[in-house]
Amino acid sequence: DASAEELNDRIIRAKEKLGDRVVILGHHYQRVEVVEHADYIGDSFMLAKAAQNHPEAEAIVFCGVHFMAETADLLSTPEQSVILPNLAAGCSMADMADIDQVEDCWEQLTELLGDEPDSDGKVPVIPVTYMNSSAAIKGFCGRNGGIVCTSSNAEVVLEWAFERGQRVLFFPDQHLGRNTALNMGIDIEAMPLWNPARPLGNNSPDALEDSKVILWQGFCSVHKRFTPAQIAKARVDHPDVRVIVHPECPQETVAAADDSGSTAYITKAIAEATEPTTFAIGTEINLVQRLAAEHPEHTIFCLDPVVCPCSTMYRIHPGYIAWVLESLIDGKVINQISVDAEVADPARVSLERMLAAKP
Ligand code: 13P
Ligand code: SF4
Repeated sequence: DASAEELNDRIIRAKEKLGDRVVILGHHYQRVEVVEHADYIGDSFMLAKAAQNHPEAEAIVFCGVHFMAETADLLSTPEQSVILPNLAAGCSMADMADIDQVEDCWEQLTELLGDEPDSDGKVPVIPVTYMNSSAAIKGFCGRNGGIVCTSSNAEVVLEWAFERGQRVLFFPDQHLGRNTALNMGIDIEAMPLWNPARPLGNNSPDALEDSKVILWQGFCSVHKRFTPAQIAKARVDHPDVRVIVHPECPQETVAAADDSGSTAYITKAIAEATEPTTFAIGTEINLVQRLAAEHPEHTIFCLDPVVCPCSTMYRIHPGYIAWVLESLIDGKVINQISVDAEVADPARVSLERMLAAKP
């Protein structure tokens, strides 16, 4: 087995040889040994734009998870290849919205609510998918008047949806949907949860008719671990602590925090703090540890005392990066992610609506 140092050298050498032929993108949750080789480190929104902005590169190596690489494929040119160094890097939340279940939900909602616009020209429901979903789900949104959002633009996207629809069907992450809608002043009573295993998602027809945001029952197994009790403890241990959590956390946790936002928001909030500050952060451990190392002027710790990595993000090991880069030098594209045209066209429509809703 190659040592960490050898792998590091191999990646540096391969990158040098490839030059502008390759762009490496790294999500904030990737380990240090990975992001140090990335041309861009960012949240899912920033990395989607970076993928779109490098038509000169013949390959985009995406150090993140499957849905991010699919999105990069949708936004890059047909000549470019998108590579996910380890094909087993998925996202359990994205897997919670299965296309057949979503189609079935849509059929039931359409039967109940119809599909005719009201007197203001608003259709009964607009589907909104979180970026953390398959290309098939993004395609579903594109075909049905819907849109994609990320954790950094969810509110702008929901405003877009409410200009066109009376209600929103939000999937897969119930927490991002609920937290964003609450921030916009929508009543929690108007947010029924959709359980795909039950008729009408386990709701009464009245509850669905009176709803504003129908929330799919998905969640992130990393972020659901953050609790109000952890925040209470952090406040006892550090009375002047500033608590920032990701909006994939449960609503009670976001309510107990001082602030919430995407991984880019958290990174920026820490970079902009002018006074030495104690931060307790509710998000994936690799990002928190990196921020702590980059900002010795602050005290930064993770709210969850038991280390909580995203196990699928962690599947991108430097060994895979060396392998895919060296293969590119030999003219071989391995672990390519390529979305079928019939899904790609409508999926692109929903992504482009998002990119137009927020520059
Ligand atoms: P960001 O959109 O904040 O990057 O978060 C995406 C995410 O959850 C990756 O797990
Ligand atoms: Fe998916 Fe959660 Fe991992 Fe993000 S942190 S990739 S939402 S499982």
